[in-house]
Amino acid sequence: MVDMDKIVSLSKRRGFIFQSSEIYGGLGSAWDYGPLGVELKNNVKRLWWRDNVHQRDDMVGLDAAITMHPKVWEASGHVASFADPFTGCLDCGRHYRADHVEEARKNSKWWQKLTEARAKGTWASVINWVKGDGKKLAPNLASVKQEEFPARDFSRYSGPHQLSESEFLKEVGGSESICPSCGGKLSEPRPAGLMLETLLGPVQETAIKVYLRPETAQGIFVNFDNVLQASRKKLPFGIAQIGKAFRNEITPGNFTFRTREFEQMEIEFFCLPGTDDEWHQKWVDERFSWYRRYGIREENIRQRKHDPDELAHYAKGCVDIEYLFPMGWSELEGIANRTDYDLKQHSQYSGKALEYFDEETKQKIVPYVVEPSAGADRSTLAFLVDAYHEEEVRGEKRVVLKFHADLAPVKVAVLPLLKKNDRIVETARKITADLRQRWYTVYDDTASIGRLYRRQDEVGTPFCVTVDVQTVGDEKAPADEKVTIRDRNTMEQVRVSMASLKPIIEQLMAGKWGEVAQEYGIKRT
Ligand code: GAP
Repeated sequence: MVDMDKIVSLSKRRGFIFQSSEIYGGLGSAWDYGPLGVELKNNVKRLWWRDNVHQRDDMVGLDAAITMHPKVWEASGHVASFADPFTGCLDCGRHYRADHVEEARKNSKWWQKLTEARAKGTWASVINWVKGDGKKLAPNLASVKQEEFPARDFSRYSGPHQLSESEFLKEVGGSESICPSCGGKLSEPRPAGLMLETLLGPVQETAIKVYLRPETAQGIFVNFDNVLQASRKKLPFGIAQIGKAFRNEITPGNFTFRTREFEQMEIEFFCLPGTDDEWHQKWVDERFSWYRRYGIREENIRQRKHDPDELAHYAKGCVDIEYLFPMGWSELEGIANRTDYDLKQHSQYSGKALEYFDEETKQKIVPYVVEPSAGADRSTLAFLVDAYHEEEVRGEKRVVLKFHADLAPVKVAVLPLLKKNDRIVETARKITADLRQRWYTVYDDTASIGRLYRRQDEVGTPFCVTVDVQTVGDEKAPADEKVTIRDRNTMEQVRVSMASLKPIIEQLMAGKWGEVAQEYGIKRT
């Protein structure tokens, strides 16, 4: 698995993702999508919308406002319970979600090194660590700060490896709750409100306090009746929405994985009570296969059912789709059975009935809701990480992003072999303009062909089209009016007539390189 630093550095170098407000020193946890990043993320959102809205009879879309009536968040339960307990380090001041502390400590360098020292089975090796690496890696750990620790009598223990992890932690750290960054002592956990607030209205005294929505879902629930009346949909049907959400996360991090401003792709799927479990399973299967369809490797994706004590206050059941990110298995999307909780809450708080008239039973019912809730930023990150490959080609490292063609930011790059040959340049420009009618196509003549190929590999362009002297002819030979197409994944090339370029690229975009290569024959290079 590639480490996150490589993804961050490639993202900046090639224009996928930049630190927000970087010239001012950056704003923690906020990221900007650059020229290629915006293409990639737009493709993720477009495919999600195409597959979940346009290609289904039972779905319609919505784009609700970010700011909503404050009562929405009382009804939804967010005001009362949308808070994660957090804790702070009394030495270095860093904050953590209380339920993330243990995992963060286990992943920290100091704990890993200390664990290696402990595994040697003697207190001498632990003391060596305390006097050496410990000073640099965990300067606020109790044993590192205490002068007397190295001199302490450990004869009551046979060896550090015989102690349980919590006993060992207390011995060297003074407590079980220790700062993953510096080894310092952590405060008692306290709840932290996760919703961002702002004032609506130009005059402070009369402005009203509103929240920036922490999920897009509530915009769908409060519009349930509007959509039902306007679309005349029958159960089961869903409402889909893509939009920004905001949370005052305690521990944002891991690049775009957890941020305070992010984008969600959510569906609220309304169904008859009693059919909800079946629909829940259908949506888990559908959403899991969606990620596989766009290239996420089998070994990097899995499903995890929530234990009853993990469930959100509104959920009867939940399955997470998890991805093996560089920092480990983490949630990509949650698919929850929200029952009739939200519609009933909004009916109660607003006084407006949010019901459905069931023609069959001639009764009004409150539908149940299955909610596949995905993150656009997290999906984009997962597709980026999964696409990353390093290969050795003729003794040199090749970095290549093997995106599914539908996700690739640029679909085709047109490369003139000689930028000083006017006829080559003119032909390449014409091909670019023509292909652009259908796919995002770029023209590049700023380096030698080898370097141009490497550049396109590194940003995941599936196909390069090269125009050379043979294409346009010269005094020695007439034009053959053919161009070379190079496939990013195999690096194989075929030579095809310019006239058939568009239908061939169409075939290639549908994943048919094998057929095309067989029909036209692989070009020897
Ligand atoms: N409406 C249900 C809901 O919001 P959630 O599990 O809190 O559920 C759904 O969020 C998805 O939104 C997550 O699976 C993740 O992809 C994305 N997400 C949540 N918090 C995020 C954050 N701070 N940064 C980036 N993405 C986030």
